[in-house]
Amino acid sequence: MNFFVKIILLVALLYATLGNGATVKRKDASWRKGYDYIIVGGGTAGVALSTRLSQGLPDSKILLIEAGPAAFDELGINVPGKKGSTLGTQYDWNFTTIPQPALKNRVLAQNRGKVLGGSSALNLLTYDRASASEYDGWGEVGNPGWDFDTFEDMMDRAENFTSADTEWYDDDNDGINTDGPVRGTINRFIPAHQNGWVPTLNSLGIETNKEYMSGNPLGVMYSSSSIDPTHYNRSYSANAYLPLAGPRLTVMTDTTVLKVNLKQDHHGYYATGVTLANGTVINATQEVILSAGSFQSPGLLELSGIGNKTVLAAAGIEQLIELPGVGENLQDHIRIQTSYQVKENYTSFDILRYNTTYATEQLQLWFEGKYSIYDYTGSAYSFMTWKQAIGNDSTLRALAQAAVGSSKHPADTKKLEWLSDPTIPQLEVIMSDGYTGVKGYPAIGTALYGKGFFSLLAAVMHPLSRGTVHINSSDPLGKPIIDPNYLSNGYDLQAAIAAIKKCRQIATTPPLSDVWDSEYEPGLENVNTDAEWKDFVLNTTLTIYHPVGTCAMLPRMDGGVVDPKLKVYGTRNLRVVDASIIPVLISAHMQTAVYGIAEMAADIIIGNLNS
Ligand SMILES: Cc1cc2nc3c(=O)[nH]c(=O)nc-3n(C[C@H](O)[C@H](O)[C@H](O)COP(=O)(O)OP(=O)(O)OC[C@H]3O[C@@H](n4cnc5c(N)ncnc54)[C@H](O)[C@@H]3O)c2cc1C
Ligand SMILES: *[C@@H]1O[C@H](CO)[C@@H](O)[C@H](O)[C@H]1NC(C)=O
Ligand SMILES: *[C@@H]1O[C@H](CO)[C@@H](O)[C@H](O)[C@H]1NC(C)=O
Ligand SMILES: *[C@@H]1O[C@H](CO)[C@@H](O)[C@H](O)[C@H]1NC(C)=O
Ligand SMILES: *[C@@H]1O[C@H](CO)[C@@H](O)[C@H](O)[C@H]1NC(C)=O
Ligand SMILES: *[C@@H]1O[C@H](CO)[C@@H](O)[C@H](O)[C@H]1NC(C)=O
Ligand SMILES: *[C@@H]1O[C@H](CO)[C@@H](O)[C@H](O)[C@H]1NC(C)=O
Ligand SMILES: *[C@@H]1O[C@H](CO)[C@@H](O)[C@H](O)[C@H]1NC(C)=O
Ligand SMILES: *[C@@H]1O[C@H](CO)[C@@H](O)[C@H](O)[C@H]1NC(C)=O
Ligand SMILES: *[C@@H]1O[C@H](CO)[C@@H](O)[C@H](O)[C@H]1NC(C)=O
Ligand SMILES: *[C@@H]1O[C@H](CO)[C@@H](O)[C@H](O)[C@H]1NC(C)=O
Ligand SMILES: *[C@@H]1O[C@H](CO)[C@@H](O)[C@H](O)[C@H]1NC(C)=O
Repeated sequence: MNFFVKIILLVALLYATLGNGATVKRKDASWRKGYDYIIVGGGTAGVALSTRLSQGLPDSKILLIEAGPAAFDELGINVPGKKGSTLGTQYDWNFTTIPQPALKNRVLAQNRGKVLGGSSALNLLTYDRASASEYDGWGEVGNPGWDFDTFEDMMDRAENFTSADTEWYDDDNDGINTDGPVRGTINRFIPAHQNGWVPTLNSLGIETNKEYMSGNPLGVMYSSSSIDPTHYNRSYSANAYLPLAGPRLTVMTDTTVLKVNLKQDHHGYYATGVTLANGTVINATQEVILSAGSFQSPGLLELSGIGNKTVLAAAGIEQLIELPGVGENLQDHIRIQTSYQVKENYTSFDILRYNTTYATEQLQLWFEGKYSIYDYTGSAYSFMTWKQAIGNDSTLRALAQAAVGSSKHPADTKKLEWLSDPTIPQLEVIMSDGYTGVKGYPAIGTALYGKGFFSLLAAVMHPLSRGTVHINSSDPLGKPIIDPNYLSNGYDLQAAIAAIKKCRQIATTPPLSDVWDSEYEPGLENVNTDAEWKDFVLNTTLTIYHPVGTCAMLPRMDGGVVDPKLKVYGTRNLRVVDASIIPVLISAHMQTAVYGIAEMAADIIIGNLNS
């Protein structure tokens, strides 16, 4: 049995021993009568929040409910080089979008973790931050108390950054912390053909940044990954936070919540607890907190009677609270990629696909804690403004202005404002070793099988498309209906074209141009004109898995779902704490922000009780 699972069982045993709560102080909080706090969704935010509440409210009984299993021994999760291998498995909800009209009606994957640790167990381990102005922006759209200085402290509470004062990170301790639970480390495994990354970007005018965690992410860098450097395991919410939990946290895995139970009194609605998918009701005397993520927190609100009247009526759900912002405002980062066949004298990460002897040897090295290709995660990043990327950005800015039009939605107006801010990145390009793309790795038996590749992934940081996620009216308990509306405006399309052309430019600039023989996807001879690039974009755009905004922290009149204390409008003790509350998408991968949201929520809830 695993160490962590033992902890959980021990906690359960402790309760059993204490019987009706020898240490229980609150009068309603007996074992039989339920819990003080129930957190729905043991993912990135849910595990972090429940751990902090159990530490800060030692007299409270806290229940964390997770639909998936605990998987502390799963190699596909623990081994950094196996990133991606868990997509489409039992640990993945396997969601997809509905056909996207602006992408030739393609259906895109929308993977999400269904395991203790949630998407932090499945993600690609990028550990970074956006610019200070963007976190400030979350406050400026109507959320007093949210600004970079405060939020940076919250992100820091989650963090143990272990690469300060190294070759690729300055000794400056600004913006980083070394005593939080989640490890952020610059990967020790750098493939030889990646050595040209920094000089190539430098020669294109992008400066080296060795302090990218402190609120200025612009530049080129070896960025960190969520890896514990002592044994090179993935560091994620479940294995980082749970060992720190106080004794009165109970974790229930393999258990799906159906809805939140609400009651009304003369002060309005309040949550009394939750109903599980098997019909069991569990009461909460203090609060219910939804941490089911951007695709499922809004659905749980809808199933509980909170949302748009039309959506609820279609699904046969009685509306209790009119809150039309639920499931709206879905924003996501799009990504597009090119791939290059490396020269024969370089070993690419693709070797793990075709040489099982090598793979076995390397995995053994990983088990022994030695330097191994299985340590690998992408570590070559760059963030730039459009001006830095393409020179004259006036066309893109005009397209953005036209796309926003007369919209007064805070996400639209902020993104427009951010386009003119020289401190905010608009484009990210990542060098990722091994083939990743849409065409597929060459099939066995074809000439290129057994060859190595690297990919350049471009992501547009502030697409203007906003979409929706709602329950399926014909099957409210089934998969959510996800419509991100990708590339539904002129800015997003031209930004994607500019982004992918930038990948070609980077690849063909020395010294990076010296390490490859041919462009595998799309191919130098296949795609050159803007019309061809456009077709390539429509054929191959994917998500980089950063959906946010579907229970937005915004004023109610702007389509908000939660207030600055993360409380759902119209209720007094129901909160949402996960990526869905992010009002405006930022120029970073999401996990450090999600941990920050959980830490902020813990601070708010614990502070509330103590004041
Ligand atoms: C494939 C992939 C790659 C990514 N790569 C990166 C990256 O490299 N770096 C980065 O920073 N970010 C990355 N992200 C994004 C980041 O991981 C997520 O934004 C973040 O983990 C979301 O956290 P969350 O708490 O909002 O949701 P989640 O972590 O997804 O947690 C939601 C939890 O709720 C549970 N749940 C849902 N419904 C119910 C229910 N009804 N009852 C009980 N439990 C329920 C789920 O099973 C899940 O465990 C990636 C995401 C994915 C999916
Ligand atoms: C749970 O709460 C409901 C609604 O408030 C109440 O009717 C029920 O008695 C409670 N159950 C227990 C076991 O306390
Ligand atoms: C690291 O991963 C291995 C292999 O899955 C596992 O046995 C071990 O418990 C993990 N260690 C930590 C600290 O998570
Ligand atoms: C996701 O798909 C895989 C492969 O079809 C399947 O094994 C797994 O059970 C699915 N996950 C869920 C949560 O349904
Ligand atoms: C920070 O991480 C390092 C590497 O895993 C570890 O040795 C150290 O104990 C951690 N610090 C804290 C306070 O957890
Ligand atoms: C419902 O699920 C819970 C949690 O998994 C379990 O404890 C309970 O026994 C189940 N109840 C029924 C009726 O199956
Ligand atoms: C509610 O949903 C319906 C159906 O999708 C939509 O037409 C309507 O505009 C929504 N109402 C509000 C206030 O957003
Ligand atoms: C690979 O070969 C090229 C010449 O074709 C050379 O410039 C480069 O240094 C070699 N790289 C390695 C890692 O051997
Ligand atoms: C596979 O890897 C083994 C062990 O590293 C090596 O000896 C062998 O030459 C490799 N085979 C191929 C086809 O690359
Ligand atoms: C940028 O391009 C626009 C439109 O093509 C042009 O009008 C403008 O003069 C250019 N600006 C600069 C500084 O070159
Ligand atoms: C909604 O549910 C129905 C009934 O199960 C199913 O046929 C339909 O495909 C679902 N819609 C979507 C978009 O998934
Ligand atoms: C896009 O896809 C279509 C249909 O599969 C194909 O005919 C076309 O060549 C592709 N275009 C590019 C640039 O990849």
